[in-house]
Amino acid sequence: MRHSLPMRLSDMLFTQGFGSRRECAGLVAAGRVQVLGTVVLEPLQEVAEEGLLFAVDDQPWTYQAQAVLMLHKPAGYECSRAPQNHPSVLSLLPPPLRQRGVQPVGRLDQDTTGLLLLTDQGQLIHRLTHPKHHVPKVYLAGTRHLVDEAQVAALLAGVVLHDDPQPVRAAACEAIGPQTLKLTLTDGRYHQVKRMVAAVGNRVESLHRESFGSLALPVDLAPGQWRWLDGAERLSLSPAAAA
Ligand code: URA
Repeated sequence: MRHSLPMRLSDMLFTQGFGSRRECAGLVAAGRVQVLGTVVLEPLQEVAEEGLLFAVDDQPWTYQAQAVLMLHKPAGYECSRAPQNHPSVLSLLPPPLRQRGVQPVGRLDQDTTGLLLLTDQGQLIHRLTHPKHHVPKVYLAGTRHLVDEAQVAALLAGVVLHDDPQPVRAAACEAIGPQTLKLTLTDGRYHQVKRMVAAVGNRVESLHRESFGSLALPVDLAPGQWRWLDGAERLSLSPAAAA
């Protein structure tokens, strides 16, 4: 476990996205911040931030040195800071998370649902999205037409997408219903599932991501809800994200 030096309360709030240092000092002085259930009025009071339980305006928080979280993305949200036609997934998060620069790890289309990771750690985003790391992602695709064995075989063998002569293949693919495919992809190209399925003569009508790397979407995380990853989950993604 990492041990850290005590930090001033207002500085701790600043690291967690509660505003500028001055605004954070103002929150404390105004009696809006509790530490371990007690209102603290002194912004310069030192706190041992690791694992610290605090509240701002009665909203409980736990100190997180790194923000790494999962969201059950609903349909109708874009994975962009500057969305074009739909609200951003970032609008589903509380303001302090947006303030500390949390970004989606890769992108899901606006009509895709399921597991989306977000973090303020640029290196982790790079590690999890770079094609050379082959992080597996599992998708359920509902299709317009019946799925047949030839389509599954072609997706496993590799299909050519129009922007690259190199074929892309599913690491795993099976029909789990007459019009449902379960696919595992280890690269992350633009509209990859939709374009691969179109390349074998079918069409994706609905798309849901069940898992990302070692993490599966928990059944009790409803669409639109998010939660922090715990230490073991972060470690399973990348040792550097476990701090
Ligand atoms: N592939 C797609 O086509 N869309 C997504 O949202 C994710 C993977």
